[in-house]
Amino acid sequence: MRTETPVSVKLENYKPYPFEIESVSLDFSLEPEATRVRTKMKVNRLRPGDFVLDGVGMILHEIKLNDVVLDLEQYDRGDETLTLTSVPDSFTLETDVTINPAANTALSGLYISGGRFCSQCEATGFRHITFWPDRPDVMSRFHVRMDADKSKYPILLSNGTPGESGDFSDGRHYAEWDDPHPKPSYLFALCAGDYDVWRDTFTTMNGDHVDLGVYVDKGQADRAEWAMESLKASMKWDEERFGRAYDLGVFNIVAVRDFNFGAMENKGLNIFNSAYVLANPESATDADFEAIESIVGHEYFHNWTGNRITCRDWFQLCLKEGLTVFRDQEFSSDLRSRPVQRIKDVMRLRGRQFAEDGGPLAHPVRPDSYASIDNLYTATVYEKGAELIRALTVLIGDEAFNKGMQIYFDEFDGTASTIEDFYSCFEKASGRDLSQFRIWYAQAGTPEVSIVESWDEKKSTLTLKLAQKTPPTPKQSDKKPVPIPLRAALLDGKGGQIEAEGWDDGDTVIVLDEARKKVEVKLEDGAQRPLLSINREFSAPVRIKRDLTTQQLLELASAETDPFNIWDNFQTLSKTEIFRLLDNPQSPPDADLVSALADAVRQNSPDPAFAALLTVLPDIGELFQEREPVNPTGLNDARKRLRKALATELKSDAERILAEPTPQPFAPSAEQAGIRALRTAMIGLTGALATPDAARSLKNLFDQADNMTEKLACLRTLIPIEGNERDAAIETFYEEWKDNPLVIDKWFAVQAGQGTAADAERLSKHPDFDLSNPNRVRSVAAAFSMTNLAEFHAPDGSGHKVIGDIIETADKRNPALAARLLTSFEQWKKLEPVAKASAKATLERLRDGGLSKNAMDIVARALD
Ligand code: TRP
Ligand code: ZN
Repeated sequence: MRTETPVSVKLENYKPYPFEIESVSLDFSLEPEATRVRTKMKVNRLRPGDFVLDGVGMILHEIKLNDVVLDLEQYDRGDETLTLTSVPDSFTLETDVTINPAANTALSGLYISGGRFCSQCEATGFRHITFWPDRPDVMSRFHVRMDADKSKYPILLSNGTPGESGDFSDGRHYAEWDDPHPKPSYLFALCAGDYDVWRDTFTTMNGDHVDLGVYVDKGQADRAEWAMESLKASMKWDEERFGRAYDLGVFNIVAVRDFNFGAMENKGLNIFNSAYVLANPESATDADFEAIESIVGHEYFHNWTGNRITCRDWFQLCLKEGLTVFRDQEFSSDLRSRPVQRIKDVMRLRGRQFAEDGGPLAHPVRPDSYASIDNLYTATVYEKGAELIRALTVLIGDEAFNKGMQIYFDEFDGTASTIEDFYSCFEKASGRDLSQFRIWYAQAGTPEVSIVESWDEKKSTLTLKLAQKTPPTPKQSDKKPVPIPLRAALLDGKGGQIEAEGWDDGDTVIVLDEARKKVEVKLEDGAQRPLLSINREFSAPVRIKRDLTTQQLLELASAETDPFNIWDNFQTLSKTEIFRLLDNPQSPPDADLVSALADAVRQNSPDPAFAALLTVLPDIGELFQEREPVNPTGLNDARKRLRKALATELKSDAERILAEPTPQPFAPSAEQAGIRALRTAMIGLTGALATPDAARSLKNLFDQADNMTEKLACLRTLIPIEGNERDAAIETFYEEWKDNPLVIDKWFAVQAGQGTAADAERLSKHPDFDLSNPNRVRSVAAAFSMTNLAEFHAPDGSGHKVIGDIIETADKRNPALAARLLTSFEQWKKLEPVAKASAKATLERLRDGGLSKNAMDIVARALD
């Protein structure tokens, strides 16, 4: 394979498209290997410029301009474009092409999954379907007509609402769909095949009736119920929280097994990775139910933040993604527990985004250049993008934020917008200049905030010296101060908060908007020294550095009134302790910390979901970021020693909790999920004891478990404990579930996530391993390389080799998938010398062997 040198697209080169496309009719004659696509568009010139369309890999039969067939010299066909040199100011253009969905292994454009047609057009899939200005600022009214063999493809779906349909005498049939809302091509969708449907209806706050459908594989309709419930909850929530109603008579979701991402927000026809649709109590974990709810919400919320208001260009991706992630996080917080949701979101941010921000792939939330757009769907754009919206709410307050959102919906509906447009709404709503806040969007790297406190006994004054610093990132060495809104409170050490001047309700927001800032807090005369609680609820996406001793941190943890910070204090304590254990291999874990942590788990057991999170020690991926060079194997051992100590301390609690019956009958409610989360945490701790006894009781629990959450937790926990129990569990689980691919994905993932490189290799050669299915590839490759860092970075290079081999083969079929897997190498420069050399050699081997443009973009940046 030839390696393409990535050429970068730059934000500063943005030019509006010279034409508008008023409307378009697409006519599909569907055949897996040769689908005919006839396109007719009405075009008007808006400004001077060439008429250039994007188009890749199609057979072009004919082009007509105003009904006249064009000669070869009247257009210029490049590798990826079609240019018409001289066109009138208003005209119709017709193209007639053939495409081959069956050969589309990259899963971008029109392809086949499970014998059914489906499409994925974001970001640039539409250019594989027909010639078109495939950029988000060209919005058009789409009319779609399709015909297909009725016996194989009885259901024909596209965006909008259905129009005419009918049968032909030759066994084919046709259907038409109309979407009245102008949209960019990336929101186009088409699905055709045989499905079972779970139907329901919704009445909007305006009294409009909406037909809802969730389309799944034959025989699986009952597994669509939860997705449907989540959809209705999303529709209602967006009305109540943001005043946004749905705007078409139909909303459909289609589940497909082969999909590069989680799901896609196509107008009126969301397409989902089946992992985020299908669920029933027997086969799905609580995490699955939760993910379905949140992703269904996410895609639905895009209808307003993404579809009605879309992005001017792909540099503005965070305009829709960061905002929509913020919206889905709020949805989950309102439906479930806000603090628990916050902790989970921050875990994800720290594990993925902080790592990205601290490595060679670091980029701003709104980048100013990219080589491959597919590689811009990152944790930074999504997760940090969402954090910035959250920080904005803290900075200007909820009221101004809500007002700004309404201004945004009013002013920019129907447009393709920018971050500047979006912020202009909050400037209006708050009356504040937000230009400094926008630096957050242009600057990569995680700011570090250091806080030094001093207490003046005589004056009863607490002085805080705050400073911020953002480390240099690739191509951005100088960093400016950003406004950092830090929620803060003064704690009395007895479970309460102290009021002070300017700290209403004992709670305030300190905005650190300069490199350094001194804050003085005057308390009542004779007051006791208060404890400072800062960055409450994780109000800003920064790293906080405070020079507190373990003893002071323990005191702070017990004085805290913010659940997020209670959890976070223990995270900080555990991190420090794991590094101490790493440096002192003979030293036992700190007994005070272990007993304080165990006490916190016990005290919080009335809120079992929260208590469960307290048992989770910072993972290796997070610990990784704190040291260079880093030895993942050593870190893993140190972490295990601390975990074992905690497990020993909580042994009788675990036995008691696990002896109680699991909730019956099963419901996917947050309440039950919380109880199971604590049980699952106890299962994990039992495994951390790693005794033969533990293996036996885990195997018993495994055999008795009647829900997937606990069953899978037992399996996961048994895997590192060699013996008959483990082998039997692996075997029976497979036998029971071998016909359910989503469950078998989990079976692969728990083994790859806990095993060695040899296990990962064995799994990648298993007959059920399937390179053409992204979920299955990820269940081995991502589970191993992204959640099992000690084995992935094993000094002998065995982990790097297995993953390198999978990536090399995957890249030939599916570059987007390969590129994503490659990001697991992003921390390679931090590794100890032996593993570092092996990671580098693997990246160089891949580069020299030839890679797709997507994969090459990641490798080049990683090696730079
Ligand atoms: N916009 C989708 C989302 O909701 C992301 C997405 C779906 C995507 N499929 C994709 C991005 C394929 C790139 C390629 O977040
Ligand atoms: Zn999205």
